[in-house]
Amino acid sequence: MLLRFCRAHCSPATRLFSTVSRHTRIVAATLDSDARRLTIQNEDEKRYSLPFAYAREHALKTASKEPIRSAIRSGTVTPTKVRIVNDAAFVDWSTGEQTEIDSEWLARHFGRRESKAVSPFESLEKTYWRSDYDCHAANTVDFTDILNDDVKLLEFLKTLERYGMVVINNATSESGQLLKLAKRAGWLKSCIYGNLITVKSVQNHTNLANTNIGLELHGDLPHLAYSPEYQMFHCIEQLSGPRAGAGWYSDGFAVASYLRKEFPRDFDILSKSTVQFQYDVADYLDFNCEHWGPIIKLDRYGDIEAVFLTNSVRGDRFSHKMKSCLSDWYAAYRRFVQLAHNSRFITEVKLSPGQILVFDNLRIFHGRPEYLLKENREVRRLEVVYIDKDAVYAKARELLNFL
Ligand SMILES: [Fe+2]
Repeated sequence: MLLRFCRAHCSPATRLFSTVSRHTRIVAATLDSDARRLTIQNEDEKRYSLPFAYAREHALKTASKEPIRSAIRSGTVTPTKVRIVNDAAFVDWSTGEQTEIDSEWLARHFGRRESKAVSPFESLEKTYWRSDYDCHAANTVDFTDILNDDVKLLEFLKTLERYGMVVINNATSESGQLLKLAKRAGWLKSCIYGNLITVKSVQNHTNLANTNIGLELHGDLPHLAYSPEYQMFHCIEQLSGPRAGAGWYSDGFAVASYLRKEFPRDFDILSKSTVQFQYDVADYLDFNCEHWGPIIKLDRYGDIEAVFLTNSVRGDRFSHKMKSCLSDWYAAYRRFVQLAHNSRFITEVKLSPGQILVFDNLRIFHGRPEYLLKENREVRRLEVVYIDKDAVYAKARELLNFL
């Protein structure tokens, strides 16, 4: 049985041959039974020292899962022989299997810096933006292109990763277009409101989103441990007038980054203190949601990973540890809220029927001014779906493999 450590099984052959040539060739390989390591050397004298368990575990990914589990538990499977043939190290194992490791595989697994996050766009720097960001002018894509062209879809996903917000044109004003888009870019995230949510201005509704009342900047559903990571708004009907029905958007990463630079103590407090988010929806559904977390969430490298600014569901409980520093927390939080609502950071976006706005729910705050419901029954109607990064990144990885 030959188990090959290369991309040939998942990428077009042309890609394999074009990438192999970019890596220095494998020229030697040795087995060290005492240290239980396989050492491979390239012609530039770079050495890769792989534990037997690692090499075998990955080789057996394409075979039955049971041998790999028992091999890891016992640690008894060893290689018996290794030889070099045409830029590849062929390893014979005591089980009778053989693996092949080539230079392209080594470069792909060990040649890059440590991957920082799950994002497939490893080297892409995010662009933080302020009020002068005009996403109608800067980053628009065509709905049909995204549905039919893999290159355009990948460009769209990259732009979304970079700016956190993209406008899609020409989606028609027919209901259900978001289902097509979500299926193309990943899969939907369901929530207590269902899959495809309609936001429509009506009188006396229990959910603020379905009224004409202004909404301060916020992210959706922070009272869930796994808040939705992207939102998509599809404009079905819109109010007339240049600004009626427009939404407000603010790049929360830009705001948090500014806070970190100008008011580091406030940033520190908001990133280290945990607060309660709570939403009892028992008035029409039998759920009472609660989650605790910081206002500014950092990743393990100390970079900003997510921001939460949803006053309407911020609970009234604080941890015991925070009781002695509540006034400091409030001062820091007030500053963060004021900055997010500052005109320097807010951009206004009015969607027309047939346009879709996609944005990162853990980065971009959204809200709206109050608007009038006119007597002529003019309405503003959006359809909304959520989708997670797991789904979008899974699609992006697949596109990156083949394009
Ligand atoms: Fe919202």
